[in-house]
Amino acid sequence: MFVHRTWYWAGWSHEIKSKPMRRKFLGKQILLFRDSEKPIKAMGAMCPHRGADLSQGKVIDDCIQCPFHGLKFDTNGRCVEIPSQPPSKRIPRTAKVDVFPVVEKDGIVWIWMDSKFEPDHQPPVADIFDPQNTDYAHKYWTRHQKGDFVVTVETAIEDSHLPYLHKSTFNFPVVRVPPYKFEHYPDGRGFAALYDREGAWWIDTDLPKSRKLKNHVKRIGDTQKAEWFMGGHVRQHFSDGTSVGIFVTPSDETELWFAVTAAKGGDTKLDKFLNKAGLSGLVLKLLANKIFDEDEVAVSDLILTDRPGGLERPVFQVSDSVCAEFRKMYRRFLKQEGREWATPDAGR
Ligand code: FES
Ligand SMILES: [Fe+2]
Repeated sequence: MFVHRTWYWAGWSHEIKSKPMRRKFLGKQILLFRDSEKPIKAMGAMCPHRGADLSQGKVIDDCIQCPFHGLKFDTNGRCVEIPSQPPSKRIPRTAKVDVFPVVEKDGIVWIWMDSKFEPDHQPPVADIFDPQNTDYAHKYWTRHQKGDFVVTVETAIEDSHLPYLHKSTFNFPVVRVPPYKFEHYPDGRGFAALYDREGAWWIDTDLPKSRKLKNHVKRIGDTQKAEWFMGGHVRQHFSDGTSVGIFVTPSDETELWFAVTAAKGGDTKLDKFLNKAGLSGLVLKLLANKIFDEDEVAVSDLILTDRPGGLERPVFQVSDSVCAEFRKMYRRFLKQEGREWATPDAGR
């Protein structure tokens, strides 16, 4: 039930090394590696010989060598060597693994999950997240967690749950949400939802009044913008110049990758102080993980066991118009690929 012909987050640039790693996206085990200066490669991780895990293998001369019997696959996925077979014997044509297009940009590694269909557009890039862009301070988080893809994207894009689910971290008052204004992007692959209201809140790391996380929060402005891009990418923009990129990539129907990056203009005083003490990452890590845990715990269990794919007819309210818009567009793209929006009533 996932749109395949789009770009999903596969990792941060700094995570992908020459040593192969394996991640599961959209039900497929994917091997990711980079060989010296060459572009990142993404291939099926299961050896077609007898099913060994290629991520346990070695990269040799731009090929991945299976750890089991040493078959070598080039970066087009073709088997180029079977060590135990005399050279006069032909390499079977079926000895190959799928290769998936990858784009690395702005510190983000994007993967295209349809190996049979060439990408017809580029991923939604944003240089504010680029670690080379020194106008911003950058932070990165990567989590693999249980979660339903649709419900998790919705959690990332709407914020009326903040005063309840994140009471211990954000400590927001309840805010009435007037209808959003939507701007649809010309390529038809995303939208911006503009808030026009009082009560946009975010974490202020300038003024630590106590060690309680919620006391680090103050009001920073009235205008926010949330963006969603086809696939699982959400951006939230705050009026203090902070932008947060949230990337949800399904592993399968019950687990997903939840990755977050934040770019904040300049360095705050607290950041500088904590950076000096080597603590900034730790404090933010604790805070972020607590927030992400709150989302995961409350929204995952019941939905995953009882209504995978989310409720078929949720009782949407005004603040959910962003969720409704996301569902509408995602459903349309699913249909274009001939896939069904699977709901319990549709036979799941
Ligand atoms: S399983 Fe990979 S070479 Fe045998
Ligand atoms: Fe949340």
